[in-house]
Amino acid sequence: SMQLELKNVNLRAGDQLKVKGLILHDAERFQIDLGCCADDLALHFNPRFHDDADGAVLVCNSKTAGCWGDEKREIQNPMQRGTDVKIELKLCGDVFEVELPDGQEVQFPNRDNMDIISYVKIAGDFKLTSFKIC
Ligand code: GAL
Repeated sequence: SMQLELKNVNLRAGDQLKVKGLILHDAERFQIDLGCCADDLALHFNPRFHDDADGAVLVCNSKTAGCWGDEKREIQNPMQRGTDVKIELKLCGDVFEVELPDGQEVQFPNRDNMDIISYVKIAGDFKLTSFKIC
């Protein structure tokens, strides 16, 4: 289910997103997408709770002209279903930094050097309670 879709934002290096919400108790997955449109994502941040291959895993990817790139998987997924979480996403230019509830940080390269993020989507098994651009 879609939680948030913003199509005319103007984010760049130095900007930060603070996302708070509840991971549903029976969550399979949710995602936070940053890009210029649904078909071009610089960051698809996708926590999964029972992935076929890896179980609980943080999947990151990019999408270019509708095609997924190579996934980067972080097997250390500190996120717990049924809990309230705060996730901070930092736009650092060449890289995205995602800070997780326990302080763990995941980095993902800005593969296509997208310097303006104009599209944000939050979707999946997550109940958004707060969204801030800082
Ligand atoms: C696919 C999945 C997409 C997205 C992608 C990331 O398998 O259907 O929703 O998560 O992986 O690589």
